[in-house]
Amino acid sequence: MASRRNLLKIGVVSAVSFVITACTKAVSGSSEPTSEPAVEDTQTPSQGGEVVIAQVSALVAGEGFNFTANDGTDAILFKTKDEKVYALSRICTHEGCSVNFDLVQNKLICPCHGATYEAPDGNVISGPTQRNLKKINVKIDGDNVLEVV
Ligand code: FES
Repeated sequence: MASRRNLLKIGVVSAVSFVITACTKAVSGSSEPTSEPAVEDTQTPSQGGEVVIAQVSALVAGEGFNFTANDGTDAILFKTKDEKVYALSRICTHEGCSVNFDLVQNKLICPCHGATYEAPDGNVISGPTQRNLKKINVKIDGDNVLEVV
């Protein structure tokens, strides 16, 4: 009989402990410890209608960096060897496929019908379109590349 009482006490203590823990987590609003994100959110609104796209020091000259422009356009950012930055829409002006940057050929190529565009200007080289890629205004401020909105 004594062992049955002890088992009952243990059960009650466990149940009370479970309820207290559940209530504490509900009040704090979190069941897991929070930590800082591993990757910094670079699309943070800045002052004066400017949005941080990336850090200049993280960009590799001659390579493209894909991002979403402020208006939702799928876009690509370039840093040239002389540290200038350019951004273009990735939306092909033929029928709207997303162009890709080809590092070896240093141009943007549409996978759908083969249109090609100059990097970093976005001017048409060849293909079924005659319209250049839309330019996105960017500037450098310290180590930040900002989209000018
Ligand atoms: S959609 Fe790009 S070439 Fe046709």
